[in-house]
Amino acid sequence: MRTNFQSLHLFLFSLCLLLGLSKPDPDPLQDYCIADTTKPQKIYLNGAPCINPELATTSHFTTSSLSKPGNTSANQFGFSVTPTNIANLPGINTLGLVLARVDIAANGIVPPHSHPRASEVTTCLQGTLLVGFIDTSSRVFTQNLKPGESFVFPKGLIHFLFNVDSRKSALAISGLNSQNPGVQIASVATFASKPGVPDEVLAKAFQISQQEVRIIRKNLGG
Ligand SMILES: *[C@@H]1O[C@H](CO)[C@@H](O)[C@H](O)[C@H]1NC(C)=O
Repeated sequence: MRTNFQSLHLFLFSLCLLLGLSKPDPDPLQDYCIADTTKPQKIYLNGAPCINPELATTSHFTTSSLSKPGNTSANQFGFSVTPTNIANLPGINTLGLVLARVDIAANGIVPPHSHPRASEVTTCLQGTLLVGFIDTSSRVFTQNLKPGESFVFPKGLIHFLFNVDSRKSALAISGLNSQNPGVQIASVATFASKPGVPDEVLAKAFQISQQEVRIIRKNLGG
C-alpha cells in the first residue's frame, strides 16, 4: 500500500515530466565520449561523436585554456568569455556542463543576455561586479560581488555582469549546466541580427523613431 507521501511524490514527479520542468542535458550512455572534432563531420548529432575509447588519454581531460586572460577589446562592451568546450577539452563532450572564464575591462559589461539551455553560477575572483537577472514578471535581482562571492542566474532568464570599477579589470568564473548553453545578447539579437528585423518592428517595439532604430543598429554593428 502506498503512503500519501509516496503518492504526492509520484504526482509531483509526473507533473514535472509532463511539463518538461526537469530536463537537463541527457545523461551520458558511457563513462566518457572524447569528442571527435575532425572536419568535415560525417554525421550530425547533438554534441560530437566519440573517438575510439581505447585512444583516450589524460590530455583529453585537461586544458589550460582558462589560464589566459581573454581580449576585452575585441567587442565594444569590454568583455571576453573563454569557455571550456569540445575543442579545448574534448573529454567534456556529453557530460552536460561548461566552465567559463569571464574577463571584464574597467567599466566593461557583459550586456543583458540569456542562456536558453542552462542555469549559471558565477564567482567573482577579482574586482567588484554588479550582477543581476530579471525574472519573467520583470522583477530584478541585483548584487555587488566581491572576490569569493557567488551569484546564480536561473536558466533562460536575462542577466548581466557589470564591472563597477573605472580603473581595474574584473575576473569571474562561471559554471553552466549544459554542454551547449547557447547565448543571446538581447540588444545584439534584436538590433544587429542578419538580416535585420524590419525598422518598423523595432520602432514599434521600443517606442522610438526609425531614425533612432538605425542609430542603435549602427552602434551595435548591425
Ligand atoms: C584585441 O582585440 C583588438 C580588437 O580586435 C585588437 O586590435 C588587438 O590586437 C587584440 N589584442 C590582442 C592581445 O590580441
